[in-house]
Amino acid sequence: MPSRREWIALTTGASAALAFGPSLLAQATPLIRRTIPSSGEAIPVVGLGSAATFAQAARGEDVSAIREILKTLVDLGGTVFDTAPSYGASEEVAGSLAAELGIGARLFWATKVNVAARGGTADRTAAMAQIDASFAKARRKTIDLIQVHNLGDVPTQLGLLKDLKRQGRIRYLGVTTTFDAQYGELESIMNNEPLDFIEIDYSIANRNVEDVILPLALKRKIGVIVALPFGRASLFSRVAGKALPEWAREIDATTWAQYFLKYLIGHPAVTVVIPGTSKPANMRDNLGAAMGRLPDEATRQRMVEYFTAVAN
Ligand SMILES: NC(=O)c1ccc[n+]([C@@H]2O[C@H](COP(=O)([O-])OP(=O)(O)OC[C@H]3O[C@@H](n4cnc5c(N)ncnc54)[C@H](OP(=O)(O)O)[C@@H]3O)[C@@H](O)[C@H]2O)c1
Repeated sequence: MPSRREWIALTTGASAALAFGPSLLAQATPLIRRTIPSSGEAIPVVGLGSAATFAQAARGEDVSAIREILKTLVDLGGTVFDTAPSYGASEEVAGSLAAELGIGARLFWATKVNVAARGGTADRTAAMAQIDASFAKARRKTIDLIQVHNLGDVPTQLGLLKDLKRQGRIRYLGVTTTFDAQYGELESIMNNEPLDFIEIDYSIANRNVEDVILPLALKRKIGVIVALPFGRASLFSRVAGKALPEWAREIDATTWAQYFLKYLIGHPAVTVVIPGTSKPANMRDNLGAAMGRLPDEATRQRMVEYFTAVAN
């Protein structure tokens, strides 16, 4: 069995799969899991998002990188895949590749619904048609999670999701937003609706949810999915050419990606982070954040201070 140090060396080198095989690696180094507060089901703390660069890759003719990313996610013990009808070809291509790879049943499939015009109303029949299309693209009879995207007409669309949950077609429901201006509305929905999850924007450089939203999620026992954990890659350019602090090894962070993700996972309200990527090597790197030690609150403060001091 490889130790964690050997695992890091192996997974950052091309010889990893040849030397041990991915399932042995996953067996040797299980990913950290968090429980979904509403059910007690445990899921790995790092998953995969499919907007942005993943969606760009899914649009192309050669989807081999996407295939490899999904395979890497599952081989190393990950399950959570976050998508949406509005992410171009992501939902369809991932559904088709998951079927081809035979990994559909191992994925925790999270998608979204939104047919409301910006701030407007959603037609229930149109919302149901969009959800039916998501079932077809995912090639599944049950979808693990559907969320109302960007708080679009929550009464209509969350109402529909509640019906689908009652019917057993979806296992969990929730709402998403990555707009600070919607946090007041989000807070009210969290206080008044039976949500399993919220999905929000959170990163070491964007910590607004720490004031009200994350404490409320803990209080109301709502799972938290972290979108935009790298601020759409802006965090990497802010630390370009800057070294990790020596003490990052005390939390087993060997790359900036792991440093950024471990900061988020260290918050007790966070259930799963879903960095997006178009590169299998980055998928492996990100899953490394679900291994080893996590920062306590004092270390998280130190992480913010160091980042603030070195970031451009
Ligand atoms: N309202 C909503 O519900 C909402 C809104 C926004 C996003 N989301 C969800 O959140 C997910 C994450 O957001 P995002 O993908 O937009 O942004 P992100 O995860 O903050 O950043 C993705 C960027 O980071 C790069 N990256 C990933 N892993 C890396 C690594 N280990 N090292 C260096 N660079 C790395 C990616 O480039 P490479 O391709 O080169 O790896 C990509 O440019 C989305 O995919 C989506 O599923 C939800």
